[in-house]
Amino acid sequence: MINYRKTSYLRSAGSTESFLRDALPQVAMAGRSNVGKSSVINALTSQKNLARVGSAPGKTTQINYFLVDETFYLVDLPGYGYAKVSQAEKARWARLMEGYFASGLITLGVQIVDARHKPTENDLTMSRWFLDAACPYLVVANKLDKLKPSQIAPSLELIRQTLSLPESVPLIPFSAEKGTGCEELRAAIARLLAAPEAE
Ligand code: GTP
Ligand code: MG
Repeated sequence: MINYRKTSYLRSAGSTESFLRDALPQVAMAGRSNVGKSSVINALTSQKNLARVGSAPGKTTQINYFLVDETFYLVDLPGYGYAKVSQAEKARWARLMEGYFASGLITLGVQIVDARHKPTENDLTMSRWFLDAACPYLVVANKLDKLKPSQIAPSLELIRQTLSLPESVPLIPFSAEKGTGCEELRAAIARLLAAPEAE
C-alpha cells in the first residue's frame, strides 16, 4: 500500500535540462488551467497546501515534482488554455511540454478535465498527446460536486465521447473539494503502475 501522506515537494523544472531522470515511475498530471490539478494532488495526498492552489491561473509555468512514499513521482504539469498569457509564455509552455512528452519519462498519464463541461479543443489535443505517448492513461473528471446527481452520467458520457476515449481508459468522477473519487484514483494508479503493459 502506498502511503500518500508521505508525499513531499521535491523540485521544479522550467526546462528540459532540469527534468528528473531516475528509475522511479512518473505519474504526469495535466489539465486546463484552473481545472484543479493542484487541488487533486492535495486531495490525493491528504495535504492542504502541498501543491499551491492558485488564485492566479496560468501562473504555474513549471513542472513540479512531488515524491510519494519514496515510490513514484506525481508530476504537476503547467496548465493550458488560459487566455491571458502572452505568446512568449505559450511558446515556453509548448517547448517545456513537448520536451517532457518526448522524453519518454511518463509512466502513467493523468488528464484532469472539468466534469461540468464538454472538453475543449485544448483538452482534446492534450488527450491525443497522452494517447500518442502510448503510456497507460486515465482521465479524472473533477469538480463533480458542482453537478446535480442526474447530470453526472450524461456529463461523463459527453467527456468519454468528445475525447474518443478507448474503453480501456478509466474515467474517474472526482471532487477535490469533497474527496470524492480519491480511493478510486489511488487504486487505478496502483493498478496501472503495477502492470503498465496490461492496458
Ligand atoms: P493552475 O495551476 O493555475 O493551472 O490551476 P489548477 O489546475 O492547479 O487548479 P487549482 O487546484 O488551483 O484550483 C482552481 C480553483 O478551482 C480553486 O479555486 C479551487 O478551490 C477550485 N477547485 C478545485 N477542485 C475543485 C472541486 O473539486 N470542486 C470545486 N467546487 N472547486 C474546486
Ligand atoms: Mg496548479
